[in-house]
Amino acid sequence: MNLKILVTAGDGIGPEVTGEAVAVLKEVAALGGHDFAFMEKRIGGVAIVEDGTPLPQDTLDAALASDAVLLGAVGGNEFNALPPDKRPEGGLLAIRAALGGFANLRPCFSFKELTVNSPLRPEVIEGTDILFVRELLGGAYFGKPREWNKETGTAFNTMIYRREEVARVARVAFELARQRRKKVTSVDKANVLEVSQLWRATVTEVAKEFPDVTLEHQYVDAMAMHILNRPRDFDVVVTENLFGDILTDESGVITGSLGMLPSATIGGKVDLYEPVHGSAPDIAGKGLANPLGAILTAGMILRLTAKLEAESAAIRSAVRKVLEQGYRTADLARGNREGVTVLSTREMGAKVRETVKEQLSAAGR
Ligand code: IPM
Ligand code: MN
Repeated sequence: MNLKILVTAGDGIGPEVTGEAVAVLKEVAALGGHDFAFMEKRIGGVAIVEDGTPLPQDTLDAALASDAVLLGAVGGNEFNALPPDKRPEGGLLAIRAALGGFANLRPCFSFKELTVNSPLRPEVIEGTDILFVRELLGGAYFGKPREWNKETGTAFNTMIYRREEVARVARVAFELARQRRKKVTSVDKANVLEVSQLWRATVTEVAKEFPDVTLEHQYVDAMAMHILNRPRDFDVVVTENLFGDILTDESGVITGSLGMLPSATIGGKVDLYEPVHGSAPDIAGKGLANPLGAILTAGMILRLTAKLEAESAAIRSAVRKVLEQGYRTADLARGNREGVTVLSTREMGAKVRETVKEQLSAAGR
């Protein structure tokens, strides 16, 4: 298997966590005799400083020439005064748009060992397995017109969707639900917003193509509560860009840390992979970052782009095993510390690598 992966580590803890994810991928390649080629390019704040733009042309060219892009995180407080498109985040949105992936898959599954780390009760969250499908190229993030008029003291954004944009992401959600527990929950604000009424009508229409999948609709405010009250009731959750951004950070409460959440964006020219967490400038460079979200993201590359299902499963089970053995990064070591060993970012990466190696060698791969 040949795979060209562009690594855009970005800012803050981005380089630390992607470094561990890449090391795991290299281990998998070495064990299986695969040829994974890695290239590195700048994005975000580091690119603003070095190249004067958050998404340099050569980063974009390299991305478009790759099979997959693994992105760390972007952002930093020193850029807060800049307008949105000039900020590090502008680079991320620009690469998302250029690669064209519209369906951002954000799985949220609870590890038994981490339930004590959540403020929610273990019996509420244990066994949670939600797949958020966040529309990634529409809504208020990209809608025009948009403006902050400093003279008049007014600002606005446009939350806009075309029917076809809703239909294509809904289809991805239904297809994925078919391979899971056959339930889709569509989240909107159709009691207030026209754009949500279009969303709901379109998802309802698409659902007719999938008679074997159950569809329910929820308002986003209620859903924000339901995912914490009864997370196990949800299978695939499909929603628009901004609602999906908010709900998936919230889902980090279920996993015990935002640092556990991976993501993959599909449907475009090149698949884009990024952990859900941000650049966490306060802990950058200290070895405190949790690399598991990035490592699980690497696992999604193996499943979705490389089609190496067994290797992808080995990463997930290695993470489980390492947690079972009591290894934690600092963010996971709140709560009960009995039998817990706190590891640095690199030590955690090494533990997972070791375990992946054991698992794949045992399986004769
Ligand atoms: C995310 C992030 C991004 C988003 C930011 C950094 C632009 O919060 O991936 O969830 O809002 O999509
Ligand atoms: Mn977010």
